[in-house]
Amino acid sequence: MAAAARHAPLGQRDALSLLRAEHDMLLRLFHEYELLQSCQARDDGRKALLARRICRELMVHAALEEQAFYPAVAQAAGSALLDDALVEHDAQRLLIGQLRSLYPDDPCFGATIAVLAEETRHHIAHEQGALFGCARSCGLDLQLLAQQLAARRKALERGTDAHAAAAHAAAFAWSPRLDE
Ligand SMILES: [Fe+2]
Repeated sequence: MAAAARHAPLGQRDALSLLRAEHDMLLRLFHEYELLQSCQARDDGRKALLARRICRELMVHAALEEQAFYPAVAQAAGSALLDDALVEHDAQRLLIGQLRSLYPDDPCFGATIAVLAEETRHHIAHEQGALFGCARSCGLDLQLLAQQLAARRKALERGTDAHAAAAHAAAFAWSPRLDE
């Protein structure tokens, strides 16, 4: 997908360029954390803020895919293709749970983010390869799906229905260690 398509106005993007833009945002956040980690100056406050944002964005993004993108792929091509992706989302949630139980000055904090970043990069490569390829070849209406994804994202950010509310609550859960 050309960079121009990824930066097209929201209404003109197809579902895959929308998801790619979300993936790029997640990768940028991890990169930002890695830069912060490599600085000599210790800044636990900024690390906590960034880690909290990474956790929230990842949780909302995973819910968006599970509530809008994966069902569309499953309907068009069967659900077996999604097994790995769902396990990868569960692994991300476990790591996020672990991260939320650590203080930023804990020696395991940086290592947990590093593993989460690695998992996420692997997961994104898998999605943009196998799943995006399938979404393109199985006849999904990618413009319509883009509208559904945009609407779902708004619902998840606001928690406007039962599914969205549960995912919103999990994504924005208060963490005593990261929110202090
Ligand atoms: Fe995903």
